[in-house]
Amino acid sequence: MCGIVGYVGTDEAVPIMLDGLRKLEYRGYDSAGVAVCGGGGLTVAKAAGYVQALCDIVEDGRRLPGHVGIGHTRWATHGRPTDENAHPHISDGGKIAVVHNGIIENYAKLREYLVSKGFAFNSETDTEVAVNLIQHYYNKHGDAVRAVAQAARRMEGSYALGILCEDRPDVIIATRKESPLVLGFGDGCNHIASDVAALVTHTREVARLEDDEIAVVSAAGVTVYNCDLEEIVKTPEHVDWDVSAAEKGGYEHFMIKEILEQPDALRKTVSPRISGGRVTLGDADIPDEYVKNISKIYIVGCGTASYVGAAAKYNFEKYAKIPAETVMASEFRYSEPIIDGTTLVICISQSGETTDTIAAMREAHRLGARVLSIVNVVGSVLARESDWVLYTWAGPEICVASTKAYSTQLAVTYLLTLHFAQKRGAMSGAQCAEVVTELQRLPEKMQLVIDDKHAIQYLASIYFNNEDIFFIGRNIDYALSLEGSLKLKEISYIHSEAYAAGELKHGPLALVVDGTLVVAVATYEKLIDKTMSNASEAHSRGARILAVTTQSCAARVAEASENVITVPDTHDMLLPSLGVLPLQMFAYYVALLRGCPIDKPRNLAKAVTVE
Ligand code: G6P
Repeated sequence: MCGIVGYVGTDEAVPIMLDGLRKLEYRGYDSAGVAVCGGGGLTVAKAAGYVQALCDIVEDGRRLPGHVGIGHTRWATHGRPTDENAHPHISDGGKIAVVHNGIIENYAKLREYLVSKGFAFNSETDTEVAVNLIQHYYNKHGDAVRAVAQAARRMEGSYALGILCEDRPDVIIATRKESPLVLGFGDGCNHIASDVAALVTHTREVARLEDDEIAVVSAAGVTVYNCDLEEIVKTPEHVDWDVSAAEKGGYEHFMIKEILEQPDALRKTVSPRISGGRVTLGDADIPDEYVKNISKIYIVGCGTASYVGAAAKYNFEKYAKIPAETVMASEFRYSEPIIDGTTLVICISQSGETTDTIAAMREAHRLGARVLSIVNVVGSVLARESDWVLYTWAGPEICVASTKAYSTQLAVTYLLTLHFAQKRGAMSGAQCAEVVTELQRLPEKMQLVIDDKHAIQYLASIYFNNEDIFFIGRNIDYALSLEGSLKLKEISYIHSEAYAAGELKHGPLALVVDGTLVVAVATYEKLIDKTMSNASEAHSRGARILAVTTQSCAARVAEASENVITVPDTHDMLLPSLGVLPLQMFAYYVALLRGCPIDKPRNLAKAVTVE
């Protein structure tokens, strides 16, 4: 993970980099640092904690003048989040400064080699190996770009590097392998960053650096080389981004802003893909013949994205009649799945850069499957390497805890289910049209649930002191339970688990004591009574039951519950889109009452670019 930025131009570099680092804090916020290169050589400032701590130290840039700089916001991998381990790191010899995103897997071996050559180390990070390796080659011939190319050849793993060399005070050198790096082209200035989010207030002309390429960025221009140091041409593309979408817009947290944006986001995902009452996936031209022959679907993702898959699995099987299995990407990549040309692997990811999901996609390709990705970030690795991509068009999601990405990913899985069901004749035209109509009504119904947020806030005030909360449900309600429990634990730090309701009595019931809260997710009419029987078993042992159900089933669950949250009725396929909203809001208001840093939960990051 980690976010890196760099600026070279005529303005003060540090204020521009601090602005970029704030935009990249979603990638990690354990520590932050900047280095500038000027007349007096390399100067570094860094601090454990949020970017704000760094801003305070450098007085928003006033204490660190310079026109060429690199910056970093860290998610700790090697070494604790201390000042010493914060980036930038300076080489032993003092001539090179580096910021790094990724993991250098052979760092122990390289460190041993460098120690044998007399290099001293001051931190526990793998990054210090990179900076000293570059210094090592630089010592041999005094050519910084060549030294970077030589060091890159010896490093295994993933890296995006921003590099300053004291003897070339007018340039930033950058290279990458597997971790993202974007070049930003300005007027009399140029930038590097992990993500366009850090660039769009300064320039909309960007180009992605590809694996093993090396960029030499000066105020006058950007020169890009391949790994053999042959010059290559990079053509900038224009990014069309609504900057305000990445601002808090008066809300206390990005999370609540993004929760409230969901009806609109869903409209944007769905509307362009419905025409004449039918689903049309023109943007992913999947041949009909291929669809008819799909023998198995694997749905792969991490975190919230994998829980979208948990719900989608039921729908693919029930409506499109295709066997489907959801596997966490980190497990899938090493599981030796049985795959052939009729296997479709659906990769789900907001960022499109989650390392495990990318590796799962590559493994699926290696084994001969076709890959369809559901992605939010346009042009991300996952989007570019998949056979087909369906974008969620959710706009930027900033809060680490995912909400609108979940809803829009889910919506794409409905579209796919309907598309497959239509093409394979698993549902009649009339049945599909009925779901499509309901799908178009979904944003309005979501809005009704959101409008009732004060009721959820009140329930949060009743339960926010619980230290253990269980979520139970069956079928799609089990998938919802997984997401509800994840949302709660990641932002409120309350211990929480999700169980298939029928499994409660096979172990977890032993943890239920007087006052334990059990959230019974019971929206799927067919299985409500079963779930509520399991809730009653917990209630008989002292649990308090909070039920989530549909309006038409409220009376049926009321008897076994202390409190009931209702959502409007809809088609069974679409229930998770309504059921998830109270769970997201419950987590949010509980975390708010507990005074948690909601948008930046402890130890987590939004884009997980390490294994
Ligand atoms: C991290 C984030 C989650 C996200 C998961 C997968 O854990 O904190 O919110 O669901 O990564 O990310 P992706 O970008 O692949 O959806």
